[in-house]
Amino acid sequence: MEVLFVCLGNICRSPTAEGVLRHKLREAGLQGRVEVASAGTGEWHVGKPPDTRSQQAASRRGYDLSAQRAQQVSRADFARYDLILAMDQSNLRNLKAMQPAQGKAELDLLLRRYDSSVDEVPDPYYDGEQGFERVLDLIEAACDELVIELKGRL
Ligand code: 4NP
Repeated sequence: MEVLFVCLGNICRSPTAEGVLRHKLREAGLQGRVEVASAGTGEWHVGKPPDTRSQQAASRRGYDLSAQRAQQVSRADFARYDLILAMDQSNLRNLKAMQPAQGKAELDLLLRRYDSSVDEVPDPYYDGEQGFERVLDLIEAACDELVIELKGRL
């Protein structure tokens, strides 16, 4: 089972989701059963580590994002990943536009599947610290549900 999180830059939201889900899978004893990765629809930050503000906010909650490096989503990802989860509607639109006709990946918004009140993880890039905390709150809640779903699908 392979899961890919996608945002715009792959330096704030999707690396956070990757770090949080990996941590929660480990806690659930599912490490090695589910592969987790992240990518951006944009190419500007390819090769860079996550934004310092994301790393620091994640670190305060026990998640280490420091080894991650940004990559851009590619058409090959639609054949590789079972589940591609976008952070906002714009990411999802961009993914749908590049989705090959064939490919196993199921595309969705992370929060539409796992949270009924909000469906987008807001882009925190131009926000203050609160924006990064909000990203973590939403992603942690969604990943708790995602672990349950993944368990059922293994
Ligand atoms: P992300 O945040 O999509 O959560 O990684 C952003 C990072 C960089 C930019 C926009 C959003 N940017 O415009 O460079």
